[in-house]
Amino acid sequence: MTTSIIKKCLFPAAGYGTRFLPATKAMPKEMLPILNKPLIQYGVEEALAAGMTEIAFVTGRGKRAIEDHFDINYEIENEIRGTAQESALEGIREIIDKCRFSYTRQLKIEGLGQAVLSGETLIGNEPFGVVLADDLCVNGDEPGVLTQMLEVYKTYKCSVVAVEEVKKEDVSKYGILAGTPNKDGLIVVDDMVEKPSPDAAPSNLGIIGRYILTPDIFELLKNIKAGLGGEIQLTDALREQAKRGQVLGYRFKGKRFDCGNVNGFVMATNYLFDHT
Ligand code: G1P
Repeated sequence: MTTSIIKKCLFPAAGYGTRFLPATKAMPKEMLPILNKPLIQYGVEEALAAGMTEIAFVTGRGKRAIEDHFDINYEIENEIRGTAQESALEGIREIIDKCRFSYTRQLKIEGLGQAVLSGETLIGNEPFGVVLADDLCVNGDEPGVLTQMLEVYKTYKCSVVAVEEVKKEDVSKYGILAGTPNKDGLIVVDDMVEKPSPDAAPSNLGIIGRYILTPDIFELLKNIKAGLGGEIQLTDALREQAKRGQVLGYRFKGKRFDCGNVNGFVMATNYLFDHT
């Protein structure tokens, strides 16, 4: 871990997880395990590896298990001290030792943009990472996606979104961006649409759940109108940011699994079972 010029990472985690009912009826979807580790811990590990040690969660009702996970559990720790099971808690213990955690609640579920805006109180006036824990990203022993994006940010000092090519029939599941490649192979965004129909999509470059955002995004989010589904969409605020300044799309290295649906979740489970 290195000390990063971006210290804070925001984790929107207020969503209901309806695609995973009944598992998510009483349990946060972020706590669903891939092997023996909850999804959200993979995301926090990726942030920590990028040197982002101030972890900010936007949670909601029914999400208290997340807070308990990133806290000490004296009873369990006392019970397993000196036994073979003790090593199972080493990873989470390291995270707890190295990071600081803060929480706020999103009162109404009104889109990713609204979730990010709810996090303003925890982030303040500095650039920050955003991780959507549903998107599980792995890159073997090579740098994770947030670390890769941080390198881009260091050079360009503007918002950066991770993208990958998606199938034409899948564009309506993603924010889609279009733009012109620059000399470093980054995409200088000139258009962005939240979940377009295949015919209306400006490209097949889908945004995945990793962002580095400059703090002017908050003012943009406060001023944009509700978009798709009557919700405040982060994609719309980013399009506005691209118009006024610069937003870059970054084709990340590594693999990404959409663990927000059962199919992607099973693929991630099988992949990590074979590769860890
Ligand atoms: C959100 C964003 C979308 C992005 C996606 C990545 O959608 O609104 O632009 O492509 O995350 O996972 P969601 O999947 O939360 O509906």
